[in-house]
Amino acid sequence: MANRFHICLLLCAIGGFCSVLSDNLQLEPLKVTVLQGSDARFNATVQRSWTYMTFHVQNRLALTVPATGEILSSKNYSAKFCAVDKSCVEFTIHNTNHNQSGPVVCFLQGAPVSRTAHLDVQVSGEINIKEGNVTVEQGQQVEFECVMTGWYPKPIVSWIRNNQTVNSSLYNTTHEDGHATSVLKFQAVSNTTVECQAIVPALHHPKSSFVYLVVVPKPPDWTVLIAVVCSIGGFALLVLLIIGIIFCCKRRKEKQANYQDEMSRRVRTQSQLSGVNPTGQQQGQVNAGYVKDNQVTRTSIAPSELYLPSILEMPDIVNSNQAGNIYNNAYNIPNESSLKKHRHLTIV
Ligand SMILES: *[C@@H]1O[C@H](CO)[C@@H](O)[C@H](O)[C@H]1NC(C)=O
Ligand SMILES: *[C@@H]1O[C@H](CO)[C@@H](O)[C@H](O)[C@H]1NC(C)=O
Ligand SMILES: *[C@@H]1O[C@H](CO)[C@@H](O)[C@H](O)[C@H]1NC(C)=O
Ligand SMILES: *[C@@H]1O[C@H](CO)[C@@H](O)[C@H](O)[C@H]1NC(C)=O
Repeated sequence: MANRFHICLLLCAIGGFCSVLSDNLQLEPLKVTVLQGSDARFNATVQRSWTYMTFHVQNRLALTVPATGEILSSKNYSAKFCAVDKSCVEFTIHNTNHNQSGPVVCFLQGAPVSRTAHLDVQVSGEINIKEGNVTVEQGQQVEFECVMTGWYPKPIVSWIRNNQTVNSSLYNTTHEDGHATSVLKFQAVSNTTVECQAIVPALHHPKSSFVYLVVVPKPPDWTVLIAVVCSIGGFALLVLLIIGIIFCCKRRKEKQANYQDEMSRRVRTQSQLSGVNPTGQQQGQVNAGYVKDNQVTRTSIAPSELYLPSILEMPDIVNSNQAGNIYNNAYNIPNESSLKKHRHLTIV
């Protein structure tokens, strides 16, 4: 046997004879992907006579299949002929485990021939939306965190909201060895079903976690209402106050203006008086009984102009001894004789 092996190597070295030999053995499929816990099957087909076939998983002998005699299957590995002429052997790995992932090799004893296939045992782990069912107020921002543990390889994560796939711009998924976290954020508008899904190629249907988002109406915000009312009230008061101040100022100015008008009118009156009788004043002060005053034209002065305001507000204090005369003058203007006597009352 060793001799034949060496010859074979020699032939291989000389030219493609090995490939001719290899063509006698086929292992299919070349890649098997299964979920952990399920079975993986490979078919070995031999185009020539053989005595022993061996299968190796993880570089360890898993099963020996004799061309004649009983196949000694184990709990984890089994094989059976799939053709009556024994040209085909079906090798099964039962209850696969993730750590069995790797090459599966079939050796044909008696000839230096082997074929290698690949086994990929995937794991669908746990998936859970951390928050569970959530109740929020309308308009509030909600966040759901989907946690996936024990997955192999990295799961593909998606979110479903009310049976519609969520745009991937709304969530972020991070992975770190067998552990994945996806965070979905959105604004709560109405009652919503939220579903987080994860899938690996070996899974026919994604695994998912399902929660309810219950949205309750937002209670009226009294603080805002009160604040609005208060500020409006305050503003109204301020406006009223300003209007009041403006009104007061205006009235005051008007009063002042009236007073000034009055004053200037009086001044005018008095200057008229003094203009009409420039000497009268002087004479009045010097000598009340001066006769020259007879020439004064009294008709130019109205009685009211003469006596009421000037007498009441600005009595001639200098000649206070003539106070009695003031009164006389005030009430006796029509009397020509008293005019003559008391004309000097005109005030400066
Ligand atoms: C969420 O609510 C639904 C229905 O009300 C219930 O069946 C489910 O168990 C709840 N899920 C959680 C995580 O509490
Ligand atoms: C997801 O959103 C982005 C931007 O927000 C948009 O460009 C894209 O078309 C959307 N994809 C789908 C499938 O709606
Ligand atoms: C996803 O992550 C990026 C960068 O960390 C951030 O800018 C973005 O807002 C995130 N999106 C969501 C929906 O959390
Ligand atoms: C959501 O459902 C709850 C009862 O499950 C209901 O009281 C509430 O009004 C609903 N919210 C909206 C926005 O429909």
